[in-house]
Amino acid sequence: MKKTTTIALLSSALLASSTALASADKLTFYCSAQEEWCQVMANGFQDATGIEVNMTRKSSGETFAQVKAESSNPKGDVWWGGTGDPHLQAAEEGLTEPYVSPMRGELNDWAISQAESAGDKTIGIYSGALGYGYNSDLLKANNLPEPKCWKDLTKPEYKGHVQMANPNSSGTAYTTLATMVQLFGEEDGFQFMKDLHKNINQYTKSGSAPIKAAGRGENTIGIVFMHDAVNQAVSGFPIEVVAPCEGTGYEIGSMSIIKGARNLEEAKKFYDWALTDEAQSLALGVKAFQVPSNKGAETSPSAPDLSSIKLIDYDFKKYGSSDERKRLLKKWDDEVSTLPQ
Ligand code: G6P
Repeated sequence: MKKTTTIALLSSALLASSTALASADKLTFYCSAQEEWCQVMANGFQDATGIEVNMTRKSSGETFAQVKAESSNPKGDVWWGGTGDPHLQAAEEGLTEPYVSPMRGELNDWAISQAESAGDKTIGIYSGALGYGYNSDLLKANNLPEPKCWKDLTKPEYKGHVQMANPNSSGTAYTTLATMVQLFGEEDGFQFMKDLHKNINQYTKSGSAPIKAAGRGENTIGIVFMHDAVNQAVSGFPIEVVAPCEGTGYEIGSMSIIKGARNLEEAKKFYDWALTDEAQSLALGVKAFQVPSNKGAETSPSAPDLSSIKLIDYDFKKYGSSDERKRLLKKWDDEVSTLPQ
């Protein structure tokens, strides 16, 4: 009896000390999804584990640049969210750590292929199709026809009415560039970007900013992931969502552990937790309507139905490779962004 009590006391003391230890643990979390979702993921993980989370939100291309700049003295532990291409580039450049999570069996095939194409240095956490949204009040006020296709956006009547992000900082905008090259071929794809440039009122830093501006009535058309446009529509703004008639590209939002992470165990715990259906279902609370990678996670009827959208066979490996991403961005910088408007 006495022995049992001692063991019980000892184990509860051990538990208490390990809890105290856990609460002192830390995680530096780089996030490239929408701000509200990043917050919910940071708080959700902190609540589930007692691990203190320090979160920074930056766009996909910006986070890649930061991880690269810090590579000799890494400050971040885990990078969650943002389009897959800079995660793939980081894997190729040796900036991230391979990890095979025990959660893999619960994921959709597209999430696992992302891992397989990068030697397990990244994995898919969500997917979503590219498109655009427009403010229907502003469209009417300006007597503009409803755009339905990508090519519509290059028509002269939309001059000054279209906004997209800069593909150097934003994964959304890089996906747009890589989509046009795959959809129309390189020459015509760049011609499209040049024609579009004439109608662009601003290249923003973050991918979803153009549709948020449209929601506020400060811009008419925003080229974004369709789920970002749906987010504005269900929030009560006069936004219509368009799946362009020619077909479109899509993203596999990804997650990677940073090489040399100071808190590697905590990073792995976050990685496993972020792949659970429970963690992925948190998305709906912040109107993040991406398709979750965990097959058991909840989806919303408001989420764009990817099976009803004409999707291209997006070559993630090629367009996420270091050489191709650098080449396309340089070409866009040299040949598109410098053109007069
Ligand atoms: C939004 C989308 C995400 C996407 C992210 C990329 O937050 O909802 O699905 O991954 O943009 O952000 P970025 O600013 O790099 O375009």
